[in-house]
Amino acid sequence: MNIYTKLITTSILMCLAGIVSAAGDAAAGKEKAALCAACHGADGISPNDLWPNLKGQKFGYMVKQLKALRDGSRTDPMMSPMAAPLTDEDIDNLAAYFSSM
Ligand code: HEC
Repeated sequence: MNIYTKLITTSILMCLAGIVSAAGDAAAGKEKAALCAACHGADGISPNDLWPNLKGQKFGYMVKQLKALRDGSRTDPMMSPMAAPLTDEDIDNLAAYFSSM
């Protein structure tokens, strides 16, 4: 393999890795989402008027909101404590799961 082939191969692999990590792991998200079902519904549709539906939520929007709730720039007495323990990976996985519904 010459240097150009190596560079091209490396860039392609890096892009793929980026796509995979940005997309999250929906299966891992589903496991974590058991905690969320109490309020957001087992099928991602909330049972009442004050709690948002998460089914089909946009991946990027959900990542942004969960980070804002975790970091305190968005606060809610019920949702902030739920977001507080989540890692970046948990957030990607949860967003992948709900956006895939
Ligand atoms: C105790 C009830 C409760 C639980 C459990 C809960 N949430 Fe929430 N969640 C809420 C409420 C209430 C809001 C609305 C907050 C507001 O009005 O700002 C919310 C908002 C959100 C939002 C923002 C939605 C939007 O449209 O802006 C996301 C995303 C979210 N929750 C994800 C989760 C995830 C993921 C879990 C599980 C780890 C979870 N929630 C667990 C009550 C809960």
